[in-house]
Amino acid sequence: MKSFNWKVIHDRAQDDASTSKTTPIYQTSSFTFTGLDDLEGFFQPENNRYMYSRYGNPNPDQLARKVSELEGAPAGVATSSGMSAILCGVLSVVRPGESVLIPEDVYGGTYDLFQQFFQEWQVDIHTVSFTDLSEVEKHITEKTALVYTESVTNPLLRVENIEAVVNIAHKHRVPVMVDNTFATPYFSQPYKSGVDLVVHSATKYIGGHSDVTAGVLVGEKALVERAKAKAIQLGMNISPFESWLTVRGLKTLSVRMERQSSNAKAMAEFLNDQSGVNVYYPEYLATHGNGAMVSFELVDRYDIHKFFEQLEWVKIVPTLAGVETTVSYPLKTSHRSLPPQMQKKLGITEGLVRMSVGLEDQMDIMKELRSALKAAEKD
Ligand SMILES: Cc1ncc(COP(=O)(O)O)c(C=O)c1O
Repeated sequence: MKSFNWKVIHDRAQDDASTSKTTPIYQTSSFTFTGLDDLEGFFQPENNRYMYSRYGNPNPDQLARKVSELEGAPAGVATSSGMSAILCGVLSVVRPGESVLIPEDVYGGTYDLFQQFFQEWQVDIHTVSFTDLSEVEKHITEKTALVYTESVTNPLLRVENIEAVVNIAHKHRVPVMVDNTFATPYFSQPYKSGVDLVVHSATKYIGGHSDVTAGVLVGEKALVERAKAKAIQLGMNISPFESWLTVRGLKTLSVRMERQSSNAKAMAEFLNDQSGVNVYYPEYLATHGNGAMVSFELVDRYDIHKFFEQLEWVKIVPTLAGVETTVSYPLKTSHRSLPPQMQKKLGITEGLVRMSVGLEDQMDIMKELRSALKAAEKD
């Protein structure tokens, strides 16, 4: 069996006769046929043909295949964004009149998708605290069609007990879908713990270079096929070029995660030593390490506006997972739409900073943080 790192780097043999070392970009909207019998071949079961890029194209298929392999899942589909991957995954299992359980600390965009879009489509959404899993079980009814969660939550980096969630949901014959964006398959492979569908905003660590918007859904073959049909009907396809870029980024996933995660650990330790700073950093992830995200709260002795303004090269962005260290402000970006009482309950406060640690030298990141913290100290 091939190792994780082998699978990250190598492509499967391609049907391309050009012997090109890298995968060609199939920048085409459609494919050609030699006659009507040839065309009919596309519609036969188990065919390997392509017809029209919204239905399928070698580059998105390669992205889907690679992420499926890394997650250990039998099937996958690549889509235009993390949100469209979530949408087609949920649509593959949930119907109007049914209900879904989501954690209250879910990513803000996902919260909106469920609370706004799906509520409008007559799906009942139950938002519960997943820190006490007996609450999850209490809310499962015969209408529950899906339990949805994240392997590492955003922005406070709570590590979900995936096995326990799966045990509870499957006891009631309810499928489980997990967003594995923050952990990446390098640190966590939820499909192997029994999760039915795993989703990634490949915009983040899978792509890794902040130059694409992409999503991947992997999991059980029948579910992924249903999700793929929705993605085709709703036009959620990703372009060949964006898929190609994402695959190129993915090849360095392991080395990026190793270095970014060890940098993040050093920054968490540094911040932990500063007075007036509360650090959120996951205690463990699988066997490899702790991930590359560090969140921290600056309490009263710091002026949060000054802290952000004083950062010289660490940029403020509403995203994460690039090769550069960046910071975001969850209260006004990713979690802006949450009701204020929910923000408060979850600890998404005025002083909360979410940092995505990059590949720089630790000394450089530490220097930048130290000088911004110093400048932000109140008199
Ligand atoms: C955990 C998580 N899931 C899903 C998404 C949505 O992904 P995209 O922006 O690629 O649609 C994001 C975006 O920030 C995210 O952080």
